[in-house]
Amino acid sequence: MTLSPSLADERTAKHRLDSPVKLDIQGAAFKRNPFPTFAAMRAAGPVIPLKLPLLGRAWATTTHEATLAMVKDNDLFVQEGRHAGKAGAVGGMQWWMPRSLRPMTSSMLLKDEPDHRRLRKLVDRAFARRDVLAMRGPIEKIADRLLDGLEGRETVDLASDYARRLPMAVICDLLGVPDEDRDAFSNWTRAALTMKNAFGLFRAMGSLDKMIAYVRDLIAESRISPRPGLIGELVRDEEDGDKLDENELLSMVALLLVAGFETTTHLIGDSIIALEQNPAQKAWLLGDPSNRMERAVEELARYTTPVQSTKPRYVSRDADFFGQSLHRGDLIIAYLASANADPAQFERPEVLALDRFPNPHLVFSSGIHFCLGMQLARVEAQSALARLYARFPHLRIPPPDQVAWIEQFGLRGVRSLPTRLDPLLTRLAA
Ligand code: HEM
Repeated sequence: MTLSPSLADERTAKHRLDSPVKLDIQGAAFKRNPFPTFAAMRAAGPVIPLKLPLLGRAWATTTHEATLAMVKDNDLFVQEGRHAGKAGAVGGMQWWMPRSLRPMTSSMLLKDEPDHRRLRKLVDRAFARRDVLAMRGPIEKIADRLLDGLEGRETVDLASDYARRLPMAVICDLLGVPDEDRDAFSNWTRAALTMKNAFGLFRAMGSLDKMIAYVRDLIAESRISPRPGLIGELVRDEEDGDKLDENELLSMVALLLVAGFETTTHLIGDSIIALEQNPAQKAWLLGDPSNRMERAVEELARYTTPVQSTKPRYVSRDADFFGQSLHRGDLIIAYLASANADPAQFERPEVLALDRFPNPHLVFSSGIHFCLGMQLARVEAQSALARLYARFPHLRIPPPDQVAWIEQFGLRGVRSLPTRLDPLLTRLAA
C-alpha cells in the first residue's frame, strides 16, 4: 500500500516543541523562492515545531491535510488563552501590550465561540447588504483613475502607486473613511504591519496608537452625524439592537481596515511579479483576460499566498495531532503557504499554472475564521490586473534577485516595485 506523504511523514518524525526545526522563514532568499523551504518543512513532518519571531516556539502545520484539519477544529485549537489555561494572554498577545491597544483583543479574529459567532454575524449582515460583484464597476473606476496618474511616466513604483492605493481606496470607500485621511492611515498600518521583531514592534506602537485614536474619532463622528458606509451602519446596528460595545466596534473597524488592506495590496503586487516572471503564463492570460482572469487569480493567490499563516491558536488540551504530542497551552499556526505547496494536493505546486483546476487552496483559510473579505479581495485583484494590463501590457520589473521582498514573518510581499511602463512598446503593440 502506498502511504500518502503526510501519513508517511507522520511515522518518521516525532518532535518536541523545545527543539524547533531550524529553517529561515523570514529572509529574502526564502521570500524569493519559498518552495524548497516548504518541501523541507513537509519532509520534517505534517506538524513541526518552529521558532517564530515575536511569538517564540510554536507548532506549525505543513501539509494541506494537517492545515485544513487544524483550522476546522475550533475545539482543540482556540484563540483565547483562557480556554487553554493561559490566564491573561489573549490570542498570543502579551502582558506588555500597551493599554491603548487592549481594545484590539475584542476583535472577532481573537475570539472563540459563541462570542466570535455573535460578532461575525453582525458584520456578515452588513457585508451581505452589499453585492460584492456589483462593486466590480466602482473598483475598476478606481483602478483607471490610479492608472491615469501613471500615464506619461516611464518609471513608477507599482507597489506604492497602484497595488497599495487600490485596496486602500476600496476599503475606505466601503467603511466611509474620508479621502483626505487615507494617506495618513496607509502610513500607520504600514508601520504596524511591517515589524520584524520586538524592536520593530516597539517602534510600531506609536503608529498603532494613532490609528486607534483615529478610528475612535471616526466612530464618534458617525454617532453625531450619520455617514454613508459600513462604520455608520455598524454604529446604527449597535444603537438599534445594542449589539457591539465600544471596544468591539473599535476593534471591528480596525480589523476590517487592517485585514482588508495590506493583504490585498500584497496579492496584487505579488501577482504582478509572478506574471512578469512567467511570461508564457502572462501571454496566455492576456490572450483572453475576460474569460481567464477568475481562474488565474485563484492560482496567483495559491502560488504567492500573501498571508502565509494564520494567527496562532492555543492548544486547548493535551492531544495527539498528526503524530505529535501537543500540550495544553502550546501555540500552533496553520502554515497556509506550505499547505498550498503540498504535492499531495497540487500537481507540481512550484509551477504557476493559471488554468489549474480544481484549485482547493487555503489562501483565505477555512473553518469559522475563514476570511470575511475573500470575495472582495478576489474582485479587487481581478480588476487591478485586468485594468493594469489593458493599459500597460509591457512592464519591466527588476530581475528576481533585485525584487525587494519584505523580511517579515507571515506576509509575502514587497514594499516597492520600481517598474518601467515602456509606453513606446505599449503604443507599438496597440
Ligand atoms: C488577498 C487578500 C486577503 C487575504 C489573503 C486574506 C486572508 C485571510 C486569512 C488567512 C484569514 C484567517 C486568519 C486567521 O484565522 O488567523 C482572514 C481572516 C479575515 N479576513 Fe481576510 N484576507 C484578505 C482580504 C480581506 C479583506 C478585503 C477583508 C475585509 C474587507 C478581510 C477581512 C477579514 C476578516 C474580518 C477576517 C477575520 C474573520 C474571523 O475571525 O471570523 N480580508 N483573512
